[in-house]
Amino acid sequence: AGSGKFFVGGNWKCNGTKDSITKLVSDLNSAKLETDVDVVVAPPFVYLDQVNATLTDRIEVSAQNSWIGKGGAFTGEISVEQLKDIGCKWVILGHSERRHVIGEDDQFIGKKAAYALNEGLGVIACIGELLEEREAGKTFDVCFQQLKSFADVVPSWDNIVIAYEPVWAIGTGKVATPQQAQEVHVAVRDWLKKNVSEEVASKTRIIYGGNLDTISFVVLEEVASKTRIIYGGSVNGSNCVELAKQEDIDGFLVGGASLKGPEFATIVNSVI
Ligand code: G3P
Repeated sequence: AGSGKFFVGGNWKCNGTKDSITKLVSDLNSAKLETDVDVVVAPPFVYLDQVNATLTDRIEVSAQNSWIGKGGAFTGEISVEQLKDIGCKWVILGHSERRHVIGEDDQFIGKKAAYALNEGLGVIACIGELLEEREAGKTFDVCFQQLKSFADVVPSWDNIVIAYEPVWAIGTGKVATPQQAQEVHVAVRDWLKKNVSEEVASKTRIIYGGNLDTISFVVLEEVASKTRIIYGGSVNGSNCVELAKQEDIDGFLVGGASLKGPEFATIVNSVI
């Protein structure tokens, strides 16, 4: 863990029933969670309101998707305005299941992210390579391309958490080693430094009478060092501590293990 406040999200995906979710919420409500961690859970749409109404304020609620623009005649979609209306604070966008199972492309995901951020939702922006892309030595290229599609359109980086989720590690029990994850997280941070911080720095007006070089440098470093880069892919109660020790792993996006309240609490508390 290094940049910003540790961030742990639970992505419940398409799991749960009214009963199982009632039980999960009650387990989360009674869990002891480290105070210095942002905790977010993402229930399926149909349970969002139920969860938000019954879950402790200590934990924020996220959607797993949102529509690209204002609501209206878009059968089956849920708008950002509707999410805000029920008190939802975050949305997960670009998850590999939406990219590779549903077929969403970079541009579509970028537009959704821009819209959600402009409307005031926080975005958990997911990136990550397929196994064959890793084996072909394309991990960085793929992640940078996905990052660029966010960077090209988002209005600011204040409200974005990047989730690096190698697709081969998702739901497979095959977690990335702490070194594999750290390596990509550093590369992502460097990419932000080069491609986003410089842009922010060039746009930011610096009105100060002192040493301008020093101040410019501070602004330049800002986005890359403040943006939290979290890891997702088979994180569980047993492997989270080693992963959390890595300097550039600023939290987790947890799938399967977030469906068990006590284990999810262990992961939240893995921050050191
Ligand atoms: O978004 C979280 C996720 O894709 C990881 O899932 O089940 O491997 O923890 P899981």
